Amino acid sequence: MLSKELFGTTSYGVPVTLFRITNQNGISVAVLNYGCTLQSVCLPHHGAPIDVCLGYDTIEAYETNDGYLGAMIGRYAGRIPDAALVLDAHRYLLCRNDGVNHLHGGRIGFDRHVFRASTSENSVEFSYTSPNLEEGYPSTLSVTVRYTLTENDTLRIECEGIADGLTVWNPTNHAYWNLNGHDSGSVLSHTLRIAADRYVPVDRNLIALGYEKGVDGTPYDFRTAKQLSDGFLTNEIRASSGYDHCFVFSEGEAELKGNCGIRMQIRTDCKAVQVYTANFLSERFGKHGAVYRPHDAICLETESRPMMRIGTIPEESQLFPFQRKTHCTEFRFIDE
Ligand code: BGC
Repeated sequence: MLSKELFGTTSYGVPVTLFRITNQNGISVAVLNYGCTLQSVCLPHHGAPIDVCLGYDTIEAYETNDGYLGAMIGRYAGRIPDAALVLDAHRYLLCRNDGVNHLHGGRIGFDRHVFRASTSENSVEFSYTSPNLEEGYPSTLSVTVRYTLTENDTLRIECEGIADGLTVWNPTNHAYWNLNGHDSGSVLSHTLRIAADRYVPVDRNLIALGYEKGVDGTPYDFRTAKQLSDGFLTNEIRASSGYDHCFVFSEGEAELKGNCGIRMQIRTDCKAVQVYTANFLSERFGKHGAVYRPHDAICLETESRPMMRIGTIPEESQLFPFQRKTHCTEFRFIDE
């Protein structure tokens, strides 16, 4: 079942709609056409509903806060070193919104746009055409992002991109998860499993160093489930204030487990996942007066491998003229 309501009006006068999809088991998911933002995921949890996704109650809060809560990221998730893109011997200078680097699509990335929307019984499809050279990116890019909630308790996010010339395309969803509830504080007692035997080391500005490394014997080994707090005992993870790393999948699978019986299984056709333990989530008010602080959530951003310092573009994020590229990630919620 799908319903919609006015969520608010942007500071520049555009109405924003909240779409709510509910399944027969009582799971409900709310998404906004502002940034294709996942605003809440409520699980019935034996009659005491739990909202497992951080977010805000007002459009003003989405417009004024940083952190990309629940948003779709585009055109390119993650950092692009020196904000420079070299394609077909042309050098494009992208917006520098993270020191000298480019982050998450720039100053006005997909997270800040109001998308067109169309709906079905259990899905919402958002679309947007990003003009040539928006935030510096070459070619006009048309994107669609579809959210579907199935009767087997799966939230499916499908993205599609097609451009009129050579460009790059690496979308992700930036939901902040806390399976104990969005307002329940630190997520570090959650356990995480990721089917990844390699990760990408980064420098102190979080730029990928240009190679992948085996996880064996490192704090990045989540091949068997372990508590996030285990990693925080190591100097390496402490030094970076938490996890903010790309894990390269051996199989597109991960699982997050909270402390009250809720599990989230992830399946994806993306090559990698950026694991971010909300290290820079400065203290702020969230939904219903909740206060969010660093490490109160984890983002599991399924995407391509990052652009490396040496300037190579991962093959999976190159988009050739009129090539249609799709990505699909499923989040299945299980409540014991
Ligand atoms: C990045 C972080 C960044 C954050 C912004 C994450 O995807 O990996 O480094 O600070 O997004 O909220």
